[in-house]
Amino acid sequence: MTAPQTDITTTETDSEALRQRALASLTTARDRTTLLTTCVDEPDLTAQHSPLMSPLVWDLAHIGNQEELWLLRAVGGREAMRPDIDNLYDAFEHPRAERPSLPLLPPAEARRYAADVRGRALDLLDGADFHGSRLTEAGFAFGMVAQHEQQHDETMLITHQLRRGPRALTAPDPEPAPPFTGPAEVLVPGGPFTMGTSAEPWALDNERPAHPRQVAPFWIDTTPVTNAAYRAFVEDGGYDTERWWSPEGWAHIRGHGITAPLFWRRDGGQWLRRRFGVTEVVPPDEPVLHVCWYEADAYARWAGRRLPTETEWEKAARFDPATGRSMRYPWGDADPAPEHANLGQRHLGPAPAGSYPAGESPFGVRQLIGDVWEWTASDFLPYPGFGAFPYEEYSQVFFGSDHKVLRGGSFAVDPVACRGTFRNWDHPVRRQIFSGFRTARSETG
Ligand code: AVJ
Ligand code: FE
Repeated sequence: MTAPQTDITTTETDSEALRQRALASLTTARDRTTLLTTCVDEPDLTAQHSPLMSPLVWDLAHIGNQEELWLLRAVGGREAMRPDIDNLYDAFEHPRAERPSLPLLPPAEARRYAADVRGRALDLLDGADFHGSRLTEAGFAFGMVAQHEQQHDETMLITHQLRRGPRALTAPDPEPAPPFTGPAEVLVPGGPFTMGTSAEPWALDNERPAHPRQVAPFWIDTTPVTNAAYRAFVEDGGYDTERWWSPEGWAHIRGHGITAPLFWRRDGGQWLRRRFGVTEVVPPDEPVLHVCWYEADAYARWAGRRLPTETEWEKAARFDPATGRSMRYPWGDADPAPEHANLGQRHLGPAPAGSYPAGESPFGVRQLIGDVWEWTASDFLPYPGFGAFPYEEYSQVFFGSDHKVLRGGSFAVDPVACRGTFRNWDHPVRRQIFSGFRTARSETG
């Protein structure tokens, strides 16, 4: 066996593995989309359940339209299948609140369109060459499209949460966890670490490139803030005490009559919350969910702490003090498995704080990945050396002080759209998203 033949065999195996990975990622996403768009009746697909959200049937056809744009047209060089509908499903043409009044494809047509696109995309994948352009290299466009569909699946799950009416979705509860007995916080030493990635083939533009960062030593919570801890803030008059809030946060909660996390309601002596059509007592051990950045920021100040910066969060999640290297995930470089993290809508909520010991970081920080998106102190900004790819409307147009960064992914994030480097962002007032947080403090002395 000569060396060149070995190389060819290796290349073919890599291509076949990439093809399988792309196929599996696209199929997992479509199965989830199908579940989310068949578990309710037609009127629930075309209705607007909240002005913050699109009708579910918009997400469905938008998923198909983006797949057509990036796989069939950009990679495959095909003609537009339905040039007449492109404008309807362009997120920048029509704000969410306007989408129900557009002449959208009805559910059956939207389904047929998305399925047609998918059939052609899989034909393209069969013969795909994973070299030659940045879009096709290592199957990037296929990975991007699978991530896009999964992001909209999370968006659709948020719409389900906002929808009134009986339960439409079911899933097993997370396994009960033994009470977490580790320390409440750990010290992450100062010094340089590598933030972002230049190596992860399906990483999106805003995660790139890998670059050095200096970090001062800091303490960070070992688990996300729980409902019990947050409830103590509420019951200590947190929402009536101006000094815990930023001026913008105070104006916002007073102006909107916000007195507790979204979906919470006081009933006599106890707190209830509604989740996916079911009302139950707020479970004390679960990470708090559906708080906006202003609430997270105020809680942290009340607790004598602060939100971690995005850089601190990523160092806590990726830095391996044994090697000085940044890993793909807190537990190492292995792809996420069920024992590492609560991802992929396996459950319909976060697991108790302290769950997933196999997923902890070398410093002993748990649940950095999965369960709840974690607000950070930081604005959404480009890394040094950033270049928009493949389109400016993914990240670039959102950079600036209007958006705060969230990290780590929620129970509603699929593994394909979750990495130690993955960056999410939203307005600081948003709380219909699956958002929680953990706190930090600077090392002094
Ligand atoms: C990264 C979640 C903020 O939903 O607005 C979907 C993802 N971009 N389609 C969003 C996205 C284009 C984006 N977030
Ligand atoms: Fe989109």
